[in-house]
Amino acid sequence: MSFMGQLQDELAEFKKEGIYKRLNYLDSPQAARVQMEGRGEIVILSSNNYLGLCNVPEVMDAGKDALDRWGAGTGSVRFICGTFTVHRQLEDALARFVGCESSLSYVSCWNANEGLCATVLAEPDFVVSDQLNHASIIDSIRLAKTITKCQTAVYKHSDMADLEEKLKAAGTARRKLIFTDGIFSMEGDIAKLPDLVALARKYDAVLAVDDSHATGVLGKGGRGTAEHYGMLGQVDVITSTLGKALGGAAGGFTAGPFALTDYLTQRSRPQLFSNALPPTVAASALAAVRYIELHPDLVTRLHQNARYFREQLLALGFQPLAGETPIVPVILGETAKAIHMSELLLAEGVFVTGFGYPVVPQGYARVRCQLSAAHTKDDLDFALRAFKKIGSKLGLI
Ligand SMILES: Cc1ncc(COP(=O)(O)O)c(C=O)c1O
Repeated sequence: MSFMGQLQDELAEFKKEGIYKRLNYLDSPQAARVQMEGRGEIVILSSNNYLGLCNVPEVMDAGKDALDRWGAGTGSVRFICGTFTVHRQLEDALARFVGCESSLSYVSCWNANEGLCATVLAEPDFVVSDQLNHASIIDSIRLAKTITKCQTAVYKHSDMADLEEKLKAAGTARRKLIFTDGIFSMEGDIAKLPDLVALARKYDAVLAVDDSHATGVLGKGGRGTAEHYGMLGQVDVITSTLGKALGGAAGGFTAGPFALTDYLTQRSRPQLFSNALPPTVAASALAAVRYIELHPDLVTRLHQNARYFREQLLALGFQPLAGETPIVPVILGETAKAIHMSELLLAEGVFVTGFGYPVVPQGYARVRCQLSAAHTKDDLDFALRAFKKIGSKLGLI
């Protein structure tokens, strides 16, 4: 059978198993309520637009002004053809915001993560990763292992005793790196940062935290996992995205000591062989950081919404995973069940995505609700009525 014929067969299999993903097309900016092609207005409960900044005028206008000032893009990679002053402004603002000395932007956090491990590790080195880390961290480590032959290990999710065992076993490694998510994206739980920092110090390791779901979300000022624990300045390396709370366009960054970002500028392959962020995107993200600094009340509202939604789901008889973040997963079991529930909710005007294997382990498929500061009580009550109706129909409550 032909190459493409084989792919078509596999796609047909996905459809048969009920795990085929259909894209929904939106015809309005990302917001609490969006216009979805073929469905009209719906409430969205599955966006990372945590602070509702995707369409605030300050963030959009900054992008438009940047287009006029710097044009569409750099036209090549930064070290070859130059970088824009807005990149430097953004990187300074991001470093200050997350409590690090410096930062370096990438076109995505995927690239920031991918550009980290294989660049700073070599054969005598060791990296250890939480079992539930994001795919971009996993792939970053796989890449590093393949290219450099560094040693790797995985510790059980948030199990500090297991992590300590792995660090002990790495005894003579030259450099040791611990890599964790700040908020775990599928569970919505928070990394045990005080223990992670203590273990990093004890075993002379460097701690890297991917704060993609925590930047703009955790801590009073939305400065991330470190602020949540009162530990700003104590995390060695922070990677994060600009594609969620910070305006939601795209982009990512790595923050840490200047020696790290300088080294990444010299050697990280996504820097050396790929264009910089478009200036429109860099300017919107910069405006988003400034907006959060001026409006920390958005972070408070986000958490009020998350608390309300969790409490109301529990009152209806659902059992969302316990937690204190705006990620509220409801576990359903089989992948097809999660996708079916998500389809039924969409028919009621609520967009919440069902996740199954391989994004989450087999048997732990879920619908993952994500709250935003942009949701009003009316939006949340509308969604809760849909959950009640569909939950009863499926015998879940
Ligand atoms: C923890 C984590 N890291 C990295 C990424 C990738 O971010 P980006 O969209 O900027 O590549 C995501 C996005 O889903 C994420 O959740």
